[in-house]
Amino acid sequence: MIMIMVINGPNLNLTGERETHLYGNATLNEIKEMLEERAEKLGAKVDFRQSNHEGVLIDWVQESREGFQGVIINPGALTHYSYALRDALVAASTPVIEVHLSNIHAREEWRSRSVISPVCLGVICGLGPQGYLLALEALVKMSVVEGGA
Ligand code: DQA
Repeated sequence: MIMIMVINGPNLNLTGERETHLYGNATLNEIKEMLEERAEKLGAKVDFRQSNHEGVLIDWVQESREGFQGVIINPGALTHYSYALRDALVAASTPVIEVHLSNIHAREEWRSRSVISPVCLGVICGLGPQGYLLALEALVKMSVVEGGA
């Protein structure tokens, strides 16, 4: 079974309530359910998590070193400055796709810089919850191609 860890960072628990013009109306739980449904169709499983604490996110990235074929991460604002999270992702050496609900390049200047992107396989932003689904499809297809299943 292909296992994908989905990690959400600070404030993403408020998705569907905060700044809905940017992040949409779907709650994080609805996004989780969409992903679980798609994963089942793809013959994969997602382990969906959210924390407001950087250290917890780092622990989870370290945990993904075993038993997971890929990671989808939306690091929230940590995207823009957390070298600790970046180092954890490098150490994990699991394929990672960075996802953002909003288009970080169409907002404040400081949001367009991600310290996470350079260590990711790919980045999807601006497509709302669809971005998570596309990331899942890509990781599953790639795990199958690479025989990681
Ligand atoms: C975000 C974009 C970040 O800049 C912001 O701090 C977030 C959400 C997104 O999903 O669009 O918390 O990661």
